[in-house]
Amino acid sequence: MNLPPGPRAPAAWQTVAWMTRPGAFLRSVHRRFGDPVTIRTYWTDGPMVLFSAPDAVREVFRLDPAIAPAGQSWEFLRPFAGPHSILLLDGEEHLRERRLMQTPFHGERMRAFTPMVAELARRELSTWSGRVTALERMRELTLEIVLRVVFGARGEQEATQLRGAVEDTLDGVRSMPRMLAMALVQRDLGPRSPWGRFRVAVERFDALLIDLVARRQAEQQDDLGRAPSDEAGSRGGDRPEGDSMLALLLEQRDEDGNPPTDRHLRDQLVALLVGGHDSSAASLAWAFERLARHPFVQARLRERDPAYLDAVVKEVLRVRPALTIAPRRLLEPVRIAGRPLPAGAHVAACLWLALRREDLWPEASAFRPERWLEGPPPNPLSWIPFGGGVRRCAGAPFAEMEMREVLRAAGDLALRPVRPDAERARRSMLVLTPHRGAEVLVG
Ligand code: HEM
Repeated sequence: MNLPPGPRAPAAWQTVAWMTRPGAFLRSVHRRFGDPVTIRTYWTDGPMVLFSAPDAVREVFRLDPAIAPAGQSWEFLRPFAGPHSILLLDGEEHLRERRLMQTPFHGERMRAFTPMVAELARRELSTWSGRVTALERMRELTLEIVLRVVFGARGEQEATQLRGAVEDTLDGVRSMPRMLAMALVQRDLGPRSPWGRFRVAVERFDALLIDLVARRQAEQQDDLGRAPSDEAGSRGGDRPEGDSMLALLLEQRDEDGNPPTDRHLRDQLVALLVGGHDSSAASLAWAFERLARHPFVQARLRERDPAYLDAVVKEVLRVRPALTIAPRRLLEPVRIAGRPLPAGAHVAACLWLALRREDLWPEASAFRPERWLEGPPPNPLSWIPFGGGVRRCAGAPFAEMEMREVLRAAGDLALRPVRPDAERARRSMLVLTPHRGAEVLVG
């Protein structure tokens, strides 16, 4: 294949670098080969060409999904994600699913979730003192947010059951090598084998989710069956209208007016869990890792200026993006940035490189929220932590709101790093996390 240049090291070596030192690897290939660059890892079944210049990134995001599907890149997740998953679909089916799933993320509906997120964040941050590993705590918090806000779990019993089942299942998918090995083998060698354990965990999780969906459906029927005069005060005590994303998803109707099936709702909930849990936890962990090393930024956050808070969120997502690439697989030859690329290759908008190019971001590696408040606004095609085009992160407004609420709740804490050196990035499943888990001293 005639592809742009890239490292000649064996795929095994490039895979190890991609997994263990992703930041250093991307920086080094960009420095040596420029843009675009071709890398070879076991992550994809063919070479992958990375683009980071805004015009090329735009072309990647505009590729016709019939020629360059994105769903195939998530194929290894199928046993967990399910056949209706937005993550796996492409073309018309994907767009239809996306329209349905975006209901909870619009304006007022999304804003209605803010108080619950703020309360969960306040509760978590109020327990911080001494030495804290922010990544662990943010994984717990963002899971709690998914359970309460997305799934609409109520009471301790419902939440505890779901929490246990999610953790068992994610244990199976968090390790990429294990997931790839399981996807290759997919043979049940007994309940103690990795695949067997994973299958049992998914079955248990599915049973709980389907049960939850049935309970919420029954409650909604109940509410509909009540006389309008009963409405006030009779909605299940503390249960406000549209109190969870699941409640809103239950209202979806397809073109023929049919509601979604239980399995379909289950796949939507799992897509929101997979999309929203680890990526938000990693981004928040990076926020604490950066803040602990920037007391001046902490001091300005304490002034509680909403514009500055927003700038901090944007700058964390820029300087430490949780996802490195938005990949597409070429089914036919295409031309990007004037370069012919053959079918079989993978192409990706490299979020990590685009967000750190010196020609687009002065002092690109510096954590400087002020850049968002001074000077001209950046080119939207260079700030792409949520990807772009028809696959842009469906939960982006929610993710930014979640980060703002957590950082607002952390406003009065004094944070210091456990060690002065910045933590480097390592890969955990699909996201980049601080290699020590963002260790901070509080107080
Ligand atoms: C800071 C946190 C987050 C980051 C950095 C992030 C980033 C991304 C990226 C880069 C993509 C792929 C875009 C592409 O291929 O072009 C994506 C997809 C997606 N994200 Fe997020 N995300 C975050 C939080 C969330 C949250 C909180 C949710 C839901 C509650 C969510 C749901 C999704 C879904 C459903 C998709 C698939 C969209 C599709 O295929 O059409 N994400 N996200």
